[in-house]
Amino acid sequence: MTSNVDKKNKQVASSGLRKGLTSYGDKGFSLFLRKAFIKGAGYTNSALDRPVIGIINTGSAYNPCHGNMPQLIEAVKRGVMLAGGLPMDFPTISIHESFAAPTSMYLRNLMSMDTEEMLRAQPMDAVVMIGGCDKTVPAQLMGAASAGMPAIQLITGSMLTGSHRSVRVGACTDCRRYWGQFRAGEIDEIEKDEVNDQLVASVGTCSVMGTASTMACIAEALGMTVPGGASPPAVTADRIRIAEETGARAVQMAKDGLTINQVLTADAFENAMRVLLAIGGSTNGIVHLAAIAGRMGLEIDLQALDKMGNETPVLVDLKPSGDHYMENFHDAGGMTTLLRELKPLLKLDAMTVTGRTLGQEIDAAPPSFKQDVVRKLDQPIYPWGSIAVLFGNLAPGGAIIKQSAANENLMEHEGRAVVFENVQDLATRIDSEDLDVTANDILVLKNIGPKGAPGMPEAGYIPIPIKLARAGVKDIVRVSDGRMSGTAFGTIVLHVTPESAIGGPLAHVRNGDRIRLSVKSREISLLISDEELVKRAQENPIIEPTAERGYLKLFLDAVTQADKGVDFDFLRAAKMVGKTPK
Ligand code: FES
Repeated sequence: MTSNVDKKNKQVASSGLRKGLTSYGDKGFSLFLRKAFIKGAGYTNSALDRPVIGIINTGSAYNPCHGNMPQLIEAVKRGVMLAGGLPMDFPTISIHESFAAPTSMYLRNLMSMDTEEMLRAQPMDAVVMIGGCDKTVPAQLMGAASAGMPAIQLITGSMLTGSHRSVRVGACTDCRRYWGQFRAGEIDEIEKDEVNDQLVASVGTCSVMGTASTMACIAEALGMTVPGGASPPAVTADRIRIAEETGARAVQMAKDGLTINQVLTADAFENAMRVLLAIGGSTNGIVHLAAIAGRMGLEIDLQALDKMGNETPVLVDLKPSGDHYMENFHDAGGMTTLLRELKPLLKLDAMTVTGRTLGQEIDAAPPSFKQDVVRKLDQPIYPWGSIAVLFGNLAPGGAIIKQSAANENLMEHEGRAVVFENVQDLATRIDSEDLDVTANDILVLKNIGPKGAPGMPEAGYIPIPIKLARAGVKDIVRVSDGRMSGTAFGTIVLHVTPESAIGGPLAHVRNGDRIRLSVKSREISLLISDEELVKRAQENPIIEPTAERGYLKLFLDAVTQADKGVDFDFLRAAKMVGKTPK
């Protein structure tokens, strides 16, 4: 029988710098060499005997959402050292929404692979992952979930809001609003340039409930951040304190062996889905949750998510579903306030990175106070969950709509399809005076799914044709197999599955077809017979996109559909073990 002392010795022998030795066929020599090299940087033996805490540095001149990275790393290091650990920061790739072509989503899986493999390759007992911009937090959670070690998420934090002619503005809901006004001729070139200076008032992530804020809230709901880790803005002292606390916590997680698989359970994902619905979160949140859950062997049950929406109203009054910005959410107590309100609906036994359950953390939180950003359960800003899941012959594998940001008058609508074959076709014709379109039509955009574009770009927010915009049309029903930014709004059906590029029914929609959207019945249907659909498929056989080499080949060969999180098939858990919610 192995004694506790033997166990402890074994643990020490495979921890810190001794972990994952480089293969030279002689372990003693591998450690000797490793220590020699690190000592070249001036480390002492006493420092090298401490628990090693990796810190993922995703700072990049191309990523202003991570512009506070140096301060965060310094604070995390301080926390690690105060708790007796040895901090080691290292880079992985960084992805910013506006600096990634063809789209950031194309690179999310690459970042997750980078994260997973560097966690496996380098010696560390726990890791602090610093991310913020939309795809970075999901990529890090996906990678860490697969690596299976103690891991804790640190969010970079939201940007501050700016002011344009005394109107408060923030990225990126207001970016879209002002751009829409410019297209409609309501503001001129000078004002467009003026507001461009004010939309992003500091470093940090978008200031509304876009994908970055959504994923920050989801990370906290999953139990992957310290309490209160989601909401402090990037440039505040609160954010720096959270960073220090995160570093210290990582050391304790290393000592306790608190691994990510103890945190990312089916219950944790259910809590995250509740929060996604209650914050009016980005539709991208569901794709990312499906990808992270897939790494843990769990399928997201879209129909169950839809049912959860019946009892989970939108409580957080933030743009684009409401009026406020992330800094107001923070002032209102952030996730602490929200989780307290959602308590009756949550799985309170879910473990968190603190070593305590979510229920224990809620009970230990400071008392509530009067505020007007997080509503009471019985006084929601929207009576149902923000996202509805649609099915029908146009989307046999499902589609979604952010009903809380849609136009009530268009949610039960039948109209004539105006079809665009791909983004190039859209760009060429959407503003043509000859485009045959009315406000009652339904715009259909094909080939922007996972394989189609590729990378499922956020082109699902199809612009209002300019001649309608000038006539004052603010919304029109839009359908695509793509995504849209969490900061966008409108009656927009997204993630149509299977996508058109692999022969989903969307591929066979023609100009003039009738389409029915009924959010009430959860339906998106192409009003043609099954026989006609089969006939069209036979007449137009689909050739799936391929590539000869490189990451594009890997992507096109391995990417899954939206319901599987657009992850690579070989990165999902080898064995699926269940569904969430259970
Ligand atoms: Fe980075 Fe919006 S562009 S969070």
